[in-house]
Amino acid sequence: MSTIQLNIPGYKVSEALYQGSRTLVYRGVREIDSLPVVIKLLRNPYPTFSELLQFRNQYTIAKNLQQAEIIKTYSLEIYKNSYALVMEDFGGISLKEWIENYETSLSLNYFLQLGISLCSVLDVLYRHRIIHKDIKPANILINPETKQVKLIDFSIASLLPRETQGLISPNVLEGTLAYISPEQTGRMNRCVEYRTDFYSLGVTFYELLTDNYHFSQKMRWNWFIVKLLNQHLQYMKLIPKFHLYYQKLSRN
Ligand SMILES: Nc1ncnc2c1ncn2[C@@H]1O[C@H](COP(=O)(O)OP(=O)(O)OP(=O)(O)O)[C@@H](O)[C@H]1O
Ligand SMILES: [Mg+2]
Repeated sequence: MSTIQLNIPGYKVSEALYQGSRTLVYRGVREIDSLPVVIKLLRNPYPTFSELLQFRNQYTIAKNLQQAEIIKTYSLEIYKNSYALVMEDFGGISLKEWIENYETSLSLNYFLQLGISLCSVLDVLYRHRIIHKDIKPANILINPETKQVKLIDFSIASLLPRETQGLISPNVLEGTLAYISPEQTGRMNRCVEYRTDFYSLGVTFYELLTDNYHFSQKMRWNWFIVKLLNQHLQYMKLIPKFHLYYQKLSRN
């Protein structure tokens, strides 16, 4: 992407990594110690109170998490009318981009390594009583050289109060349709708790193994809910691209 002129005091920005509808992400260095960093900003130059709250939320939740497979959050800076979230740069790209543009042969061995790393991340979140609520390939980074993976984007994550097991069914829909669990739709009389992340991780694994979305993003909302609540297991009929491995494994 193009070189960018952004004036964030204390940082030199070198490259735009992502320009979404709500978020801008840049690569740069922290001037005081030349530390490589990634800086996330809100696209809206005049964010609403709730946008600011949500943006701040990811800092509050992620800053104390010390785990190699979770991106390090360095600081939250005031930037114009908004914030700049400064985090670790380990040369990662999203798994989504990796699947689409780089990955040519995902071996079963490597998939298992990746799967174990991601399960251990969810274990750490569970121990900290954190629900991420948006596990999907766009929120998991991979370094294409070292193949290390790290989880990002805690913007809609929740910290569960100590005295409760789960969150009350949500009134607003949060997360990404194609990956959310049935209880996260708010259409079930069920609390959202740590298992919601395991559901989304399962959908992510399914996509990695089959090159297929569990659900199409283009489905209409009502139709999607009906499918999600009643028929999602039917989608498992698609043959994973590793079925030959599975057959071999089950013979041994
Ligand atoms: N530390 C990082 N290193 C490399 N790339 C990153 C990093 N953080 C974010 N990105 C890239 O920016 C993208 C968007 O980041 P993030 O998921 O944090 O924002 P978002 O809140 O989902 O934005 P939007 O809602 O606009 O999609 C990621 O999918 C990834 O491609
Ligand atoms: Mg994201």
